[in-house]
Amino acid sequence: MKKLLLTLLIPLAAACASHSEKPAYLDPSRPLEERVNDALPRMTLEEKVAMTHAQSKFSSPGVPRLGIPEIWHTDGPHGIRPEVLWDEWDQAGWTNDSCTAFPALINLAATWDRELSRLYGNCIGAEARYRKKDILLGPGINMGRTPLNGRTFEYMGEDPFLAGELVVPYVQGVQSNGVAACVKHFAVNNQEVRRTATSSNVDDRTLYEIYLPAFRKAVQEGGAWAIMGSYNLYNGQFNCHNKKLLCDILKGEWGFDGVVVSDWGGCRDDDEAIANGLDIEMGTWTNGLRGAASDSYSNYHLARPYLERLQDGRATEEVLNDKVRRILRTVFRTSMSGGDNFGRFTPPEHFEAARRIAADGIVLLKNDGVLPLRPQEGAKILVVGENAYKMMVVGGGSSNLKTKYEVIPLDALREVFDGKAEVVWERGYVGDTTTDYNKVITGQDLSESRSAEQLLADAVAAARDAEYVLYIGGLNKSRNQDNEGTDRSDIVLPYGQDALIEALADVAEKLVVVNISGSPVAMPWASRVGAIVQAWYGGSESGHALADVLTGAVNPSGKLPFTMPLALADGPLKTERQYPGVQEEGKQWWQEYYDEGVFIGYRWYDTEGIAVQYPFGHGLSYTSFELAGASVKRSGKQWKVSATLTNTGSVAGAEVVQLYISDTEASVARPAKELKGFEKVFLQPGEKRRVQFTVGLDDLSWFDASSHKWVAEPGEFHALLGTSSADIRADIPFRYEK
Ligand code: BGC
Repeated sequence: MKKLLLTLLIPLAAACASHSEKPAYLDPSRPLEERVNDALPRMTLEEKVAMTHAQSKFSSPGVPRLGIPEIWHTDGPHGIRPEVLWDEWDQAGWTNDSCTAFPALINLAATWDRELSRLYGNCIGAEARYRKKDILLGPGINMGRTPLNGRTFEYMGEDPFLAGELVVPYVQGVQSNGVAACVKHFAVNNQEVRRTATSSNVDDRTLYEIYLPAFRKAVQEGGAWAIMGSYNLYNGQFNCHNKKLLCDILKGEWGFDGVVVSDWGGCRDDDEAIANGLDIEMGTWTNGLRGAASDSYSNYHLARPYLERLQDGRATEEVLNDKVRRILRTVFRTSMSGGDNFGRFTPPEHFEAARRIAADGIVLLKNDGVLPLRPQEGAKILVVGENAYKMMVVGGGSSNLKTKYEVIPLDALREVFDGKAEVVWERGYVGDTTTDYNKVITGQDLSESRSAEQLLADAVAAARDAEYVLYIGGLNKSRNQDNEGTDRSDIVLPYGQDALIEALADVAEKLVVVNISGSPVAMPWASRVGAIVQAWYGGSESGHALADVLTGAVNPSGKLPFTMPLALADGPLKTERQYPGVQEEGKQWWQEYYDEGVFIGYRWYDTEGIAVQYPFGHGLSYTSFELAGASVKRSGKQWKVSATLTNTGSVAGAEVVQLYISDTEASVARPAKELKGFEKVFLQPGEKRRVQFTVGLDDLSWFDASSHKWVAEPGEFHALLGTSSADIRADIPFRYEK
């Protein structure tokens, strides 16, 4: 009895003390490291180990005895995931968690607009804060190595500079809300096929020039507080505990002081998890977890096995302390950061932001003057295609969302032409009829009784007397399309859509094709249609955003964040060794070799001189721009590259001036050009503005693996200024001499 009383009294005394003289760790006004140093010695070994692994599907423990809160993680990256059951992926059925669905990250990337990226981060961070989430699992910035990657829609395109420039303000925006952005998936995780069983074997030059720069910027310029390790292996070791990626590069070379979180189920080994830089293990499918036994989480690699190793001396407390310091930093930066920001959830401004981002990322690929839509009074506008109707927020994997509402394109078009023109819909084809994902349901009925032939015939018949035919099709988020866990097998449009578009082209005078997808598709009918619009999964306001662009309420200014090839076979991945990987004698995991080196995306097509459907950076406007008076001026070891952009058309609009650098005297094979600067400039008709870029030695350099250094070689370079990677308006040579 006496003993029991005593144990009850000690914590009580500690709690009382904490009220009278506030310990440093509880005081948000004290410097971060002081708080960490104050909290750490107060913790027992068991409390420390507990913090390094999950306690539920999306949370990891705090220190209840000390009043240090649990960490709540959430997907990401397009909105706040609905609450899920404690041990399950399925949504829990709460009624207060329907979020604002923001556009997919590929849509954001297509805006080429740093300020919109900050706005996106700010809004989604505020939603996370309101929902009491501490780590937002996003953004994703893996490079578009193959157009087949099922998660292309969740990433920011094929260029490390573009992704790097956009990830920085996103991270800062999220974190300004006291929510950690968890940048994912680190690293060289560029396909979904066998994503947990394939080793990406990449040389250092390729790694540093293509696959790491956006992550480095997120950490060093964006100040990211969290990084998620990826499922795959890199050079033979799993990435959630890959020594080179996590210890040497991320925490060593880049000085990352935040927390490394495993992907869900990405941690695979006790000793490596302890030694190689993983801080929080999440989602592991160890014994019992699938059956949700009450102590499942104690089977995690960083749970009981870790404690045992600490107790018998196989693991050191020093390494554990480093992990716990990082976790404490995360808590102090987020839930214990003080202040009065409690976030905001689904206010009208967030939907407005979503609409603006979605619209500004829509890319006008081609226009023979058919757009913007100007129907005659009472005319018929025929809309054909499943994507005009199908809700797209639900589905796709972990980015699946439960949103407050989603405006479909058909409804938005009906709204805008109400009383002016008749908007009629024909489905044209059946694609994906599912309307639920992880128990989130859209409530739509997508069942269809007509045959494929009948659907096509009905669409063609309806097209005959329509003034405009708007085809709204593309991909969706079902398996083997834009979907986590699977890749596509080709870039050809599914469900017979090419034939349908051709048939419509036979009868329609004004045919507009809107391709809604998150990744490149082939467009063999491109020359037969009047206009082509690339739209994306635009979130809650996707329909409005599309209607804004089609009607000209918003002048399109999006630019492709990836190349739209003519055919898959034109791309750089030619062998199974390159993609999707091979099995080798004596090796447990699939092996994949990045033999194409730095030549992915436009770096490949431009260097090889291979024609594409639409180049990286391409996107038209309803106005026209002139880029003139380009010059390069040297000042020390920098060059000022500038030119004047003029809006020569009759409506206001924005153009993205792009600067590419070409190294013509390199001692190694370098891409024909590489993006090193861009600026989105909004101009009234007749208005002009001088755009200036500063080029430094970093922009001239390539990564020399043998010396492990970036090298700028003296010689001739070219500054290429243009409005896409193919539309270069000025080519100015300049020299760099040591
Ligand atoms: C995905 C991550 C996601 C996590 C949690 C994983 O399957 O790869 O991107 O954040 O699940 O849902």
